[in-house]
Amino acid sequence: MKPPLVVGNWKMHGTESEAAMLARQIRKGLKQIEGVEIVLAPPFTALSAVHKAIRGSSLRLGAQDVHWETEGAFTGEISPRMLREAGCGFAIIGHSERRRLFNESDVTVARKVFSALHAGLTPILCVGETWQERKRGMTARVIRRQLRAALKGLGKSAIEKLDIAYEPVWAIGTGRNATPSQANEVHRWIREFLRNLAGNQAAMRCRILYGGSVRPENAGELASAPEINGLLVGGASLKAKDFLSIIRSFVPESR
Ligand code: PGA
Repeated sequence: MKPPLVVGNWKMHGTESEAAMLARQIRKGLKQIEGVEIVLAPPFTALSAVHKAIRGSSLRLGAQDVHWETEGAFTGEISPRMLREAGCGFAIIGHSERRRLFNESDVTVARKVFSALHAGLTPILCVGETWQERKRGMTARVIRRQLRAALKGLGKSAIEKLDIAYEPVWAIGTGRNATPSQANEVHRWIREFLRNLAGNQAAMRCRILYGGSVRPENAGELASAPEINGLLVGGASLKAKDFLSIIRSFVPESR
């Protein structure tokens, strides 16, 4: 199994200099943290500055989105190749804000996953149900549909390179997180889906993160759920102290 993964999704927060400062604060606080992989995903304009700020540390850089083509007439888009050169090793793909606010479909999510992998970026594929869907008992069906579409045509070796984030839409930015047992149940379904698709080894190599209103106060219990292999953190990743405390919940001796 890979080490647990904690990702800070800074969304549309922070100018270049603010982002670099936050990255430096996180770097400084990392000293006693080992055995956790940490990714910072600042806005595109801050990628280079954050890359410089974390150079030589164990922190990794991620993008919040990626286009599927290498280059071309796609105004406003950023290609996997550009992200690689900017220092990114990861790309968040299919975040529910992109699906909901920018009409991103299962088909475009699949294209992005495919080309990110092809370019050597690790996709952090986001899936999750709305509150309405959960209330109607459709959670498993929705998650499976999103996975089936996004992973279509990918072989075993591609699947094991992925990380997946379960982010219930109703928990994102609402202060209302899924309970560890709610998250753990969905993570088990996701693992089962991956196992059926690509076999046990690939399924076990794929980290399944939870995201949605993660805070220092709830990170510990989420981190101890057996199927939760990491966290995707929005709001609480914008304060170095809170983000570091969330990361520490995966360091056994500091629990
Ligand atoms: P939140 O966002 O932690 O602010 O709820 C999580 C996310 O959108 O990735």
